[in-house]
Amino acid sequence: MSKRKILVTSALPYANGSIHLGHLVEYIQTDIWVRFQKMQGHEVHYVCADDTHGTPIMLRAQSEGITPEALIARVQKEHERDFAGFHVEFDNYYTTHSPETRHYSEDIYGKLKTAGLITSRAVEQFYDPVKQMFLPDRFIKGECPKCGAKDQYGDNCEACGAAYAPTDLKNPYSAVSGAVPVKKASEHFFFKLSDSRCVDFLRAWTTSGTLQTEAANKMREWLGEADENKLSDWDISRDAPYFGFEIPDAPGKYFYVWLDAPVGYMGSFRKLCNDKGIDFDEFWQKDSTAELYHFIGKDILYFHALFWPAMLENAGYRTPTNIYAHGFLTVNGEKMSKSRGTFITAESYLQQGLNPEWLRYYYAAKLNSTMEDIDLNLEDFAARVNSDLVGKYINLASRAAGFISKRFDGKLAASLAPARKCFLEGLFVKSVNIARDPDEFIQGRFTEEDVPDGRRTKYIADLYEQRKYGEALREIMYLTDIVNKFVDYYKPWELAKQNGQDGELHEVCTVILNAFKSLTVYLKPVLPRLAKDVEAFLNIEPLVWEDAKTLLLDHTISPYSHLITRIDPKQITALVEASTESLKPATPQPHSQQRHAQHQENIVETTTQPATISIDDFTKIDLRVARIVNAEHVEGADKLLKLTLDIGTEQRTVFAGIKSAYDPEKLKGRLTVMVANLAPRKMKFGLSEGMVLAAGDGNGLYLLGPDEGAQPGMRIK
Ligand code: MSP
Ligand code: ZN
Repeated sequence: MSKRKILVTSALPYANGSIHLGHLVEYIQTDIWVRFQKMQGHEVHYVCADDTHGTPIMLRAQSEGITPEALIARVQKEHERDFAGFHVEFDNYYTTHSPETRHYSEDIYGKLKTAGLITSRAVEQFYDPVKQMFLPDRFIKGECPKCGAKDQYGDNCEACGAAYAPTDLKNPYSAVSGAVPVKKASEHFFFKLSDSRCVDFLRAWTTSGTLQTEAANKMREWLGEADENKLSDWDISRDAPYFGFEIPDAPGKYFYVWLDAPVGYMGSFRKLCNDKGIDFDEFWQKDSTAELYHFIGKDILYFHALFWPAMLENAGYRTPTNIYAHGFLTVNGEKMSKSRGTFITAESYLQQGLNPEWLRYYYAAKLNSTMEDIDLNLEDFAARVNSDLVGKYINLASRAAGFISKRFDGKLAASLAPARKCFLEGLFVKSVNIARDPDEFIQGRFTEEDVPDGRRTKYIADLYEQRKYGEALREIMYLTDIVNKFVDYYKPWELAKQNGQDGELHEVCTVILNAFKSLTVYLKPVLPRLAKDVEAFLNIEPLVWEDAKTLLLDHTISPYSHLITRIDPKQITALVEASTESLKPATPQPHSQQRHAQHQENIVETTTQPATISIDDFTKIDLRVARIVNAEHVEGADKLLKLTLDIGTEQRTVFAGIKSAYDPEKLKGRLTVMVANLAPRKMKFGLSEGMVLAAGDGNGLYLLGPDEGAQPGMRIK
């Protein structure tokens, strides 16, 4: 087998949001593939970065009162921590705000310009006269032109689903400052995607048979028939103020974030090359024989399968070998939701003490090579992990290891009877139709089918290669079932009680542990941490793919210590509880067809600056000084404290999400500020009749308090 050179990327997460379980579908999927390829002995490089540019990041930094550079540096650290927590192992994790990415963005842009593929013209857009900036569609709000719903975004209505242009909105206002936007013209640069050089190339490239079927169909839809040209030129510039790279020779004009984002793949790889002495050109030059794969979500196919290859092709670089698009995560069959507690961040999953490999295993069991959505069913998650991973696989080691340690000084048998060897070979080396007669097989009597050596290992390898992880795990679990049948048939615990059966016991346990080792090889791309612990337990070098076929004999292993625990369903309840935003009304999540629109100006996940309000709006809020007369823990709630507040005329019960920051005892008697006219909210633990005010940035939480002399019930104005 010749050594392949493979460069792999995952999409670059935006630098203004936390990594959540949805993202992890992609990074875990990619990581499994990369680990698998590395186990094959190929030269593989896996790079990624934070996607750091654009209006939302600029505004977010402003609202936090920090520079965009400080914001992206902080978020990058969080992202790297989260990925490491799930054993996603990049060879380089970088930022698009880097000299390398700037270099290749300018380089590609310059080459497209020289080729005559950049054009410019004036574009009329909404402009915020107060904030003095052009407004991306998603930052303009107003009344839906169809149904009249208020406060709708500039591209579509969340109430009736209508799609429209921001200029269609009635009574538009800027979501940044609240000002009425004005129309203003400015010069924009365009990449001439409609040029025949792009269209002809894309038509050929997308029908070359490598793309996934669904992706190829989409492309056909976007490109239209041979005689039509459905592609329009792509607006690649934005006006200052903008956080990004200024376009050479065009002061005040910046590359649109989606221009430099995929270039971030090159930037990150360039950095790796500089650090490790890898030849960059070998991977990116036009006639490169290295392979290049982009793992992405289906929502960003347009950028990766149209704009990106067209940019590369016309700037004289190689194009991707393939683009592997996956579907979206649902939890319990529905979109992730903050109010249902299914919008779960990577951080919160780990903080609740859940094992990251449980999730890796479950995702792998669900993943295939299509763009279908995948569902994380929380009940099934616990059941599957407990029955397969712990009940079937880990169980093998725990059932055999003790005998080897106690009875044979930790040493595996020096040889195996032919029937036993046959059994292991039949499972892991040759391909045997086990189903024909499982009992015969377990006893080592089978006829080898007319198949070449190594087929089983090859079969599972092919499934990994094709990203059919679910099928691979089914095959692996099938083999695991057979080994468990072997255990049940020979009953080592009974052999151990009989006199004169030591040789038999030794061999049986040696077979079980050898099978366990081979299964570990197959599972290692999915469960790297566990595999490492197994390697330590078996006292062996890091397992590579071919080790599935070898035998460990006359070899001393380490004492067995527990490798992985079961999921306690209570942990899942706690996770959902911790992720439930019960005090705020649920923020509406954009539904899926909006994801595409959303990427036009990568919207911030949290609100940026609130719109300007009038004094009348402000006086609608009845803010009162309140004395905390009682504060207590709430059974079963991880974030909440139950407060009894005295506001002079009456007492109110409020459930406040401040448990992480305050000891209830210390709150008693203290003055604070409450919203007294908030509609009461029915919660799992009772009725909450208002809200206390606290400042926080995700790191700390600080309850507000009035100066001395204030009395409960005083109005705050
Ligand atoms: N910044 C862009 C990608 C630029 S690539 C040059 C972006 N960022 S993202 O943070 O919104 O998403 C990162 C990746 O995670 C994307 O591939 C996206 O499809 C994927 N996912 C985000 N939410 C997801 C789910 N709920 N489910 C599955 N994948 C999801 O897009
Ligand atoms: Zn509407």
